[in-house]
Amino acid sequence: MERLNQESVKRIDEIVARHKGEPGPAIVMLHEVQDALGYIPYEAMSAIAGATGTSVADIYGIVNFYAQFTTEPKGKHVVNVCLGTACYVKGAQHLIETARELTGAEINHTSKDGMFSLDATRCLGACGLAPVVVIDGEVIGSATIDKITQRINEIKASEQSSGAAIS
Ligand code: FES
Repeated sequence: MERLNQESVKRIDEIVARHKGEPGPAIVMLHEVQDALGYIPYEAMSAIAGATGTSVADIYGIVNFYAQFTTEPKGKHVVNVCLGTACYVKGAQHLIETARELTGAEINHTSKDGMFSLDATRCLGACGLAPVVVIDGEVIGSATIDKITQRINEIKASEQSSGAAIS
């Protein structure tokens, strides 16, 4: 396991210390760690378990239960593919497969180079635009394989020209 940097460890310690002793503090600590670091590393789950007298497995159970918690850092670019019913029947599965191949990120994970996260989401409330893909906050309605391929390739090209390593 990669070691966390000192800054992250300090922030986790500070959050845990601040809420220790409060009623039901684990969920508050988890929210703050998620906000501070963008994800919840094992070290945070361990510190929270120690401070609240529960097991890491219990804390992990909470993290897994709530969709807003993640145990992996998010990629620099985030691709959300709606797999709600309206999008699904219009071929969202093909879109997410294409995004997976292009980004190198498995579904609901981040690519090894840290460049892309690929998230499958439930209905985004824009079924009239189905299928819907959101890339870095930009909504692509009536999404097609061509449209998302173009957008993802543009991102890769701009990262390459700015000198970032893309596998
Ligand atoms: S099902 Fe995709 S936006 Fe509603």
